[in-house]
Amino acid sequence: MKRGVLSLDITILAVCLLLIGTTFTVAQGPEMPDEISIGNDGYKADAKEPVPFSHKKHAEEYQTACTDCHHAYSEGENVWKQGDPVEKCFKCHNPIKEEAEGTDLKKAFHDNCKGCHKAAVANGKMNAPDKKCAGCHIK
Ligand code: HEC
Ligand code: HEC
Ligand code: HEC
Ligand code: HEC
Repeated sequence: MKRGVLSLDITILAVCLLLIGTTFTVAQGPEMPDEISIGNDGYKADAKEPVPFSHKKHAEEYQTACTDCHHAYSEGENVWKQGDPVEKCFKCHNPIKEEAEGTDLKKAFHDNCKGCHKAAVANGKMNAPDKKCAGCHIK
């Protein structure tokens, strides 16, 4: 009798895990690449090499939230949530400064990446490049 109850418990547990698993797959939405090479060739002077960026490490090890980097604004509020489609940054931030409606692409990246790194360094995370160009731009 005891044994029967136990196996029933295990069956319920397995079904629960299966349900949780399915929910996660749905919530993650579009596939999140592990490594990205950030390099737009629409700049007036494409002076720097592309920037290798570990999406996986940032999202999993460095404990950053998706919304630290991804957004879609509606009336000044970030309404983007995990599972929503992700548009390339350049779709909204023009690499040509003079043509940009708001923040141009270079500034958008520098403010986003360096902004957080500056705060991270202040919190003792010395491995977050905040000033040195070569910390992000490979030679
Ligand atoms: C925290 C990372 C980071 C640091 C540090 C950094 N950059 Fe960048 N920078 C980026 C990213 C990401 C882009 C966007 C690359 C693209 O769109 O091609 C970029 C774009 C640029 C661009 C425009 C794209 C190009 O190829 O011309 C220039 C110029 C640039 N950075 C110069 C610098 C200089 C100079 C420094 C040092 C004073 C520096 N950056 C430090 C991340 C960084
Ligand atoms: C530290 C910044 C940062 C964090 C945190 C982050 N991302 Fe990203 N993500 C990026 C950048 C930069 C790109 C490349 C954008 C581009 O090329 O214009 C990107 C690209 C993507 C793409 C691919 C879009 C395509 O064109 O293929 C998806 C999907 C995505 N992110 C989802 C997520 C999800 C989900 C999370 C949270 C679990 C997350 N990201 C966390 C910076 C980040
Ligand atoms: C769907 C359009 C859209 C996409 C895609 C988008 N942004 Fe933005 N972003 C905006 C709008 C709108 C603002 C507010 C107005 C402005 O500053 O241009 C903004 C503001 C910002 C700001 C604050 C401006 C500043 O410098 O203080 C940063 C930083 C930024 N975006 C970085 C990024 C990065 C990095 C990506 C890609 C991972 C990205 N954005 C993708 C629309 C977008
Ligand atoms: C919300 C915070 C945050 C944002 C935004 C962010 N980073 Fe980071 N990044 C970190 C932290 C924290 C570390 C250091 C982690 C450690 O030392 O444990 C780091 C480390 C790094 C490193 C060195 C270690 C490694 O993984 O190679 C690079 C390169 C880097 N970031 C590039 C970028 C670029 C490029 C962007 C913008 C597209 C960016 N980061 C945006 C938080 C952030």
